[in-house]
Amino acid sequence: MTATGSEKLDGKAFYVSSPIYYVNDAPHLGHAYTTVAGDVLTRWHRQRGEKVWYLTGTDEYGQKVLRTATAKGITPQEWCDKLVEEEWKPLWKHLEIANDDFLRTTQKRHSDRVREFVQDLYDKGEIYKGGYEGPYCVGCEEYKLPGELLIGEGEYAGEKVCPIHKRPVDILKEENYFFRLSDYGDKLLAHYEANPDFIQPESARNEVVNFVRQGLQDLSISRSTFDWGIPIPWDEKHVIYVWVDALLNYATAVGYNDNQEKFDTTFPADVHLLGKDILRFHAVIWPALLMANGLRLPGRIAANGWLLVGGEKMSKTNLTGINPREITSHFGVDAFRWYLLRGIAFGQDGSFSWEDFTARYTSELANDYGNLASRVAAMVGRYFDGALPGATADGEAEKAIHDSLAKTVAEADRKIGDDLDFQGGILAVFDFVKQVNGYISDQEPWKVAKDDSPEGRARLATILYTAAEALRAVAVLLNPVMPLSSQRLWECLGAEPALGSLSAQKMLEAGAWGRLPAGATITKGANLFPRLEEKPSA
Ligand code: MSP
Repeated sequence: MTATGSEKLDGKAFYVSSPIYYVNDAPHLGHAYTTVAGDVLTRWHRQRGEKVWYLTGTDEYGQKVLRTATAKGITPQEWCDKLVEEEWKPLWKHLEIANDDFLRTTQKRHSDRVREFVQDLYDKGEIYKGGYEGPYCVGCEEYKLPGELLIGEGEYAGEKVCPIHKRPVDILKEENYFFRLSDYGDKLLAHYEANPDFIQPESARNEVVNFVRQGLQDLSISRSTFDWGIPIPWDEKHVIYVWVDALLNYATAVGYNDNQEKFDTTFPADVHLLGKDILRFHAVIWPALLMANGLRLPGRIAANGWLLVGGEKMSKTNLTGINPREITSHFGVDAFRWYLLRGIAFGQDGSFSWEDFTARYTSELANDYGNLASRVAAMVGRYFDGALPGATADGEAEKAIHDSLAKTVAEADRKIGDDLDFQGGILAVFDFVKQVNGYISDQEPWKVAKDDSPEGRARLATILYTAAEALRAVAVLLNPVMPLSSQRLWECLGAEPALGSLSAQKMLEAGAWGRLPAGATITKGANLFPRLEEKPSA
């Protein structure tokens, strides 16, 4: 396991979070990307038999959400309620996201605790009142440094624009409360130094270290020009800055100041997953807030790259957000989950390409994997009436498959479970699938089937058992990524007990071979990955 900023307590859950998303609009592909990654990571650890906690939710306060609701002519609370119930939660269900909690920042269980946290900081002298004037991007909900701004183009030609949203910034002048962030630069640098894996990938770590080395400014943590937020307890004319409120969800959702036992066995997160656009909030402000209140720091801050459209970050603000359902209706939910993680190296930017997805679906999912499952089931049906025979004549070729599976299990476990190298882990499993296909081509069971002697039958039984057992292992290994097709394959193989149960977890122990019992009933179900229809005009 990668070193973490805090030692692991006995009985502590493996705690993973996604960002909590702004509900200024419906979710798009970029949001789905981080959420799916967190789901695969937590399903992997659950399948290892670990106690796991996966948190996601929505970030509902602040100017960004307020402006959208106002433009729609409804209250921000009504707007959030509608979007959360009609868009966000249903999409996560559709995408098979197995989150353990969904936190909404407008819930009292969150806002009461946020007030207490901030009051504590105030009592400790970590917060003071001051004034600030500077450029503010509502899209980012962040004051920008003048040097970060770009000169706009097109509609905004000549104006100072946000480097991410490419829209003009507002100049805000406010009397605010400030958190003494500037006191934490050296402590943060010491933490990064002592915990080299705290920020991932390396490029993200370097960016943060360089940023903090330049010196930190105190952070404005309140707003008084609008009231869509959590009031500051000692001065209710101010609301808490939306980012401070939002970051605290990682503590309030797991029992901070409310359920000590839950808190002690869950907090801090082992992995905070987020896009690189919000890296500094998580790698600088969040740990500084925790240090200021004497709480333990998370294990890892892991930033994913951007999904790009036309070379730019896909986003609703830039009108390039793709609705995930447009993609699942064509490729299916499992393939969608698979492609996001298989197609793009986690931590790097990548373009979502319909053509690339189509090509990989056809060659890897339909031809390599889906066909293997259908062929094996068809042969057990044809030659053994659907009752899986036992393997009694293992030779060199079978031993090669056993050894290769043990290696594949270890590699996928390390890459997906520990290194967050989802692409590498998935490719390792698909290399194994290719090897099993090669094994069948080499062993030519259709020729062996012509030999009716006891030796011939034993050989045929061994080949088909080996292929079926290899497939069972693949179903377990791909279960966190593609739970629906893994379940279907599991049922076709007549494997028991339920996928995800203890015996399936044991599959992750290297060398666990031979768990499919002889005599299991193999059925040929529908194709795991049917041929794609022609692409609908998009
Ligand atoms: N509300 C804040 C997060 C608070 S967390 C305490 C926020 N919300 S957001 O709705 O803008 O979502 C940002 C996150 O969505 C990114 O960090 C990333 O995880 C995901 N993505 C949104 N667009 C994306 C891409 N185009 N590509 C990859 N991920 C993207 O920021």
